[in-house]
Amino acid sequence: MKYLSFYFTFATVVTFLFSFAPHSLDTPQKFVQCLYNYPFISNSIFDVVYTQTNSSYFSILDMSIRNSRFSNLSSKPRVIVTPLDVSHIQATIMCSQRHGLQIRTRSGGHDYEGLSYVAEVPFVIIDIFNLRQITVDVENRTASVQAGATLGELYYTISQKSKTLGFPAGVCATVGTGGHFSGGGYGFLMRKYGLAADNIIDAHIIDVNGNLLDRKAMGEGLFWGIRGGGGASFGVIVAWKIKLVPVPSTVTVFNVARTLEENATEIIQKWQLVANQLDERIFIRVDVKKVNSVEHGKQIIQANFVSMFLGGVEELIPLMQKSLPELGLDRKDCTETNWIGSVVFANAVLLGSTVNEAPEVLLNRSRFLGRINKAKSDYVRKPIPIDGLQGLWSLLYEVPDGELQFAPYGGRMDEISESEISFSHRSGFIFHIHYMVIWEEEGDEVAQRYMNWIRKLYKYMEPYVSKSPRAAYLNYRDLDIGVNNNGYTSYNQASIWGLKYFGNNFRRLAEVKTKVDPRNFFRNEQSIPTLSDEENYINSNHVVSTIETK
Ligand SMILES: Cc1cc2nc3c(=O)[nH]c(=O)nc-3n(C[C@H](O)[C@H](O)[C@H](O)COP(=O)(O)OP(=O)(O)OC[C@H]3O[C@@H](n4cnc5c(N)ncnc54)[C@H](O)[C@@H]3O)c2cc1C
Ligand SMILES: *[C@@H]1O[C@H](CO)[C@@H](O)[C@H](O)[C@H]1NC(C)=O
Ligand SMILES: *[C@@H]1O[C@H](CO)[C@@H](O)[C@H](O)[C@H]1NC(C)=O
Ligand SMILES: *[C@@H]1O[C@H](CO)[C@@H](O)[C@H](O)[C@H]1NC(C)=O
Ligand SMILES: *[C@@H]1O[C@H](CO)[C@@H](O)[C@H](O)[C@H]1NC(C)=O
Ligand SMILES: *[C@@H]1O[C@H](CO)[C@@H](O)[C@H](O)[C@H]1NC(C)=O
Repeated sequence: MKYLSFYFTFATVVTFLFSFAPHSLDTPQKFVQCLYNYPFISNSIFDVVYTQTNSSYFSILDMSIRNSRFSNLSSKPRVIVTPLDVSHIQATIMCSQRHGLQIRTRSGGHDYEGLSYVAEVPFVIIDIFNLRQITVDVENRTASVQAGATLGELYYTISQKSKTLGFPAGVCATVGTGGHFSGGGYGFLMRKYGLAADNIIDAHIIDVNGNLLDRKAMGEGLFWGIRGGGGASFGVIVAWKIKLVPVPSTVTVFNVARTLEENATEIIQKWQLVANQLDERIFIRVDVKKVNSVEHGKQIIQANFVSMFLGGVEELIPLMQKSLPELGLDRKDCTETNWIGSVVFANAVLLGSTVNEAPEVLLNRSRFLGRINKAKSDYVRKPIPIDGLQGLWSLLYEVPDGELQFAPYGGRMDEISESEISFSHRSGFIFHIHYMVIWEEEGDEVAQRYMNWIRKLYKYMEPYVSKSPRAAYLNYRDLDIGVNNNGYTSYNQASIWGLKYFGNNFRRLAEVKTKVDPRNFFRNEQSIPTLSDEENYINSNHVVSTIETK
């Protein structure tokens, strides 16, 4: 990570910044002046600052809005900074504090609730899309990835260097590594190699004091925290160092559709019994939605079994015959390709495209245009009974475009302890559910209607999913599960949502937060809270009594 390996001394900078009291008149102008006058800042700062009067402001803002529910921002950022180097980020962090502005950091902009670009308070966006350098070290099976790079850019770059190395992260090529890796990050290789966050070996983050820290400098607590706990509560992540994983030169993919008439429900029932037990080289996701049936001239429910196997079709067919014969997988349903081909395939499935495209499409940052949507997540420990599934299907009939995705667990996920990194949802789960509703019509009333539908769906699922707490996935951000106050939020209040995302790791995340950002500058609707002195005290008493009872 040569391109980042310089460190600053900040005594002069801090003196410069806090020698004046904060004031709010013409805040954006003063903030911009602060950046321009910042000690040691590189001159290119003049090319990367967009105020609301700049003619490029809206195109920069809209470029990475991946959920059109937030296209009409009631509160737009006062300024957008698109850093070209570390000094631009350091200055933005320090000048925002001086001028009473909050920061939203955006990498790929896929946050489901728009937290990387929406805020009710005066704020600045640090959009790091220019920081997307990737260097692959084939010999050592590692790569350095700047946090503004997308998954597609990473996968493509790896494939240009090696046909037998890959990386276990999410499917959608436009997702940013900044948000995705820090929240977990799962995809087709999850059962074999775990999450993206499980395969991070170093990181560079800029903290609230403007210090650039690598793993050694930030310490194991913070390094643990940004692997599952999200980055936004702790600072601005500039780059990751990751461990690449071996993939065979031939992999097999399939996408098999079954309607209810074709026994989809029975196949899913059986899938629930085997999905997390299968050979860990095979990953079979189930996507369920309503489709137009030409044959029946009406809308029907269809399940798609979307899969990748780390090996050839000859080995896959008998494996499927043995474990899930109900699917009736045929050789002609399968395509042999290489790992990057499987990534292109998975993206085509996501976009509903059947065209066979070149890997270069993975570099297209405008390929995924976020429609208006709302999503939620759940984790399942026991198979959902048949009447539970049938009720779910009937709910899908109530909206034009509701989608469910069941992603299997097991394999490597069962082997990693829940406290290894801050991502906690590990063993004992059969699968993970992603719910989404998408709509076209604009306006608040319509939005409320669809949001109410997905909330009803979520309520319906309560008996069938994990409880106390009902687990949720940070990367499928959902503000319905609880939010912070605008200002101080107690640990107890934040626990309402925090325990759902982080389980038993939430407490330690709050301890890390209290240490690295005690004044809670990096905050948002679901940022990790700091512990008050009292909460810290309760904690130390608690620890003592736990030790005594052992
Ligand atoms: C179409 C689509 C497909 C998806 N597919 C998958 C999938 O297959 N698997 C999966 O696990 N998830 C998936 N996701 C969810 C995705 O992982 C999360 O939305 C992820 O947080 C997006 O990262 P981002 O950088 O694009 O988002 P952003 O909106 O830029 O960031 C998300 C959060 O991280 C913070 N953040 C971003 N960059 C930084 C940084 N450099 N430093 C500190 N904080 C930062 C933001 O402030 C925000 O809070 C998908 C989402 C979408 C919309
Ligand atoms: C808009 O901002 C960019 C980046 O700072 C700058 O290069 C450009 O000159 C500005 N344009 C106008 C019209 O001010
Ligand atoms: C691999 O890592 C070793 C040890 O860190 C280093 O000396 C070597 O230069 C690396 N190889 C490459 C190709 O960079
Ligand atoms: C559905 O299952 C029934 C009973 O097991 C079986 O007879 C039938 O052939 C199956 N239908 C399809 C389309 O596979
Ligand atoms: C990127 O994808 C978008 C949306 O599919 C398309 O309109 C555009 O032409 C693509 N750009 C390139 C360079 O292929
Ligand atoms: C955005 O605002 C315009 C103008 O007020 C409105 O017509 C449109 O419905 C809004 N879009 C959404 C997604 O709500």
